[in-house]
Amino acid sequence: MPKIVIAIDGYSSCGKSTTAKAVAARMGYGYIDTGAMYRAVSLFFIEKHVALSNKNEVITALEQLHITFNHNNRTGRNETCLNGLNVEEEIRKMYISNIVSEVSAIPEVRWAMVAQQQKMGRRRGVVMDGRDIGTKVFPDAEVKVFMTADTTIRARRRQQELLSKGEMINLDDIIQNLEKRDKIDTTRSESPLVQAPDAALLDTSHMTIEEQVDWVIEQADRRLSAL
Ligand code: DC
Repeated sequence: MPKIVIAIDGYSSCGKSTTAKAVAARMGYGYIDTGAMYRAVSLFFIEKHVALSNKNEVITALEQLHITFNHNNRTGRNETCLNGLNVEEEIRKMYISNIVSEVSAIPEVRWAMVAQQQKMGRRRGVVMDGRDIGTKVFPDAEVKVFMTADTTIRARRRQQELLSKGEMINLDDIIQNLEKRDKIDTTRSESPLVQAPDAALLDTSHMTIEEQVDWVIEQADRRLSAL
């Protein structure tokens, strides 16, 4: 059976990563959370006090960081590691969400991450979620999905997710953060968030995760049977 690349792009908190993870598990594929990579870069930049407007500092910091994904057999989860340290929990916090769009709009950051993502998926057999997978990282992905959902519904989902990790954040603050990130993500000059012409649109506002997973698997099965 040939292996394909499944690119899942779209807005924050539409259920992209939960769906992508489940699709990867069902297909026996690898899963790569590219948002986690930009979050890890943001954490590193904060720790090293990198001035985002200083290209030299940005480039030097990028040379010092190494991002990997470690599968934890005990929890069954993928953990994002920054220079060998598990930062999975830290990078999901609100203070990272507040700067990650700015960090991920820096061209040098994107070039470094895109090159690494292309390397990670070069053997295909991966589900990758992010903002520019179908347009920039794998423009030749066999399956491209573009996810969207109503902003308030996305904010409620994000609030629940944060709450389950013990972080209680006001809904309005989350809406503001999502809108701000959407704006930066869609208007940045370097590979903005945009639906690839050949991507299938999936509005998850009124769908369960199971329905989303089935929908993507159906797209993949259809594509695989045509190969
Ligand atoms: O998927 P996420 O919300 O964890 O992503 C965090 C941020 O990273 C998001 O605001 C935009 C950015 N991002 C990006 O620019 N390109 C990607 N491929 C993935 C994420």
